[in-house]
Amino acid sequence: MFEPNSYPLFDRRTLLKGAAGAGLLASGLSMIAASPVRAEFKQNPFTLGVASGDPAPDGFVIWTRLAPEPLQARGGMSVVPVDVSWEVSSDSELKQVIRSGTAVARVELAHSVHVELEGLEPGRDYFYRFRAGGIESAIGRARTLPASGAEVAQVRFAAAGCQQWEGGYYTAWRELARENFDFVFHYGDYIYENPFITVDRQGRAFPRVLPKDFSTCISLTDYRRRYALYKTDPDLQAAQASCPFLSSFDDHEVSDNWAADTVRDVPADAFLFRRAAAFQAWYEHMPVRRSLMPRGPDVVAYRRFQVGTLANVSVLDTRQYRSKQPCGDGFKANCAEADEAGRTMMGAAQEQWFADGLRTGTPSGQAAWQVLAQQVLFAHVDMRSFPWLTKSEGPVVDLDAWDGASAARGRVMGILHDAQVKNPVVLTGDLHHGVALELKQDWRDSAGPCVGVEFVATSISSGGDGEPVMSNAQALHSDNPHLKYVSNQRGYHRHTVTRERWLADFRAAEQISAQDRPMTTVKSFVVEAGKPGLVNT
Ligand SMILES: [Fe+2]
Repeated sequence: MFEPNSYPLFDRRTLLKGAAGAGLLASGLSMIAASPVRAEFKQNPFTLGVASGDPAPDGFVIWTRLAPEPLQARGGMSVVPVDVSWEVSSDSELKQVIRSGTAVARVELAHSVHVELEGLEPGRDYFYRFRAGGIESAIGRARTLPASGAEVAQVRFAAAGCQQWEGGYYTAWRELARENFDFVFHYGDYIYENPFITVDRQGRAFPRVLPKDFSTCISLTDYRRRYALYKTDPDLQAAQASCPFLSSFDDHEVSDNWAADTVRDVPADAFLFRRAAAFQAWYEHMPVRRSLMPRGPDVVAYRRFQVGTLANVSVLDTRQYRSKQPCGDGFKANCAEADEAGRTMMGAAQEQWFADGLRTGTPSGQAAWQVLAQQVLFAHVDMRSFPWLTKSEGPVVDLDAWDGASAARGRVMGILHDAQVKNPVVLTGDLHHGVALELKQDWRDSAGPCVGVEFVATSISSGGDGEPVMSNAQALHSDNPHLKYVSNQRGYHRHTVTRERWLADFRAAEQISAQDRPMTTVKSFVVEAGKPGLVNT
């Protein structure tokens, strides 16, 4: 009998028994270890839940990972490949199974499985489940995208991210799970790579405490254990089981404010090994397609999702190809380097890909709404009023965001203009504030035309409880006339989109330092199709 909890990880006796059970000749351990077996588990191996992602009109990915002891280096698994069977059904109780099969969970990928479904019907719900060693996983709900070119009446989705585990309870994920969204855009900071810390920057104790042996994520094992910890949370599991995710990454999946092949003063020849480990763990834990499997330190994660002719969602990667932050990074005034023409946030290839996707005549170019689903603040924002910054007479900007590469932002605005995109909507994370902004062709001309909008979803838990009214809110508004709303509460954004209007609801938790506190819609905006700008509701 194969015992996945046996430790040390390589156990000849259980391997041989497992191989015999699979009907194999036990002539050599290397052959045996490469042959999948039907495992038996003493404990539930589905401790990290199930997930679906990267929907298409005819399918999606379903994901799980076997980890009976999730915080162990290998999740309590041995090196033996294990058969994981899966079923997909059109009903929530899996009575009518329409697809089934077996995937092999391998130690090389932390016993994760990514199954890509195809040939399904567009625009409808499906349900799925895994089984290993006779134990069933939870049932997850997935949903295909509408048919390409379909006249879709409405799409409902959420934008969420920034979920530092120790920062607070995942009340927002619990609430989101109840919404049965068409999909969720996750803008990154799925994990935080930080060392063992028990207090936040203000010295307040975190509501949750990391395991004592956790330290800064550097190795593949470090990152895997961090994902495993986060994914043991039942509210996150409920959210991931509720609908497909469009997964992306920001900085904390690798290291705080990394940029391309470096972070701070760590050179590429050292950093890229860490990035490779971080990306492997990211892939292992995200419901993404095989095309997003990293090759060493590289992963092509920018991609496009078409919601019929209603919306075209471009998921961007603003980390891997960007110029290093100018002027030594941070929040600073008078950084001339930030305005240099050669700076980039997406890299030339991704910029070209983005422009190509908007070309008139392509299905995506005809979409009613063009969505830039990305990570860091796109609009210019003068942040000089934040009390923790050094006082400044001039604008202070976040050099890690698009304000640190104004020419790159200008090129994206040019691409949108040239393609005659009438309704660009930028979705953003990173800031840990809920923000609504109007995009200006010229940021110095506050009375000038608005060319699009940006919604910065706050954070699921990063930043602690926060407060609905910030002490510098008034100053932020007067320094930034195009900023229409700002708050510091934890939650997510709910977007309900029709051909005529885009409704954005800012969902916020009363408190996340305690469990099960209520969530409410604290602000809503409407954007009317063809009339860029934010309308209060
Ligand atoms: Fe974050």
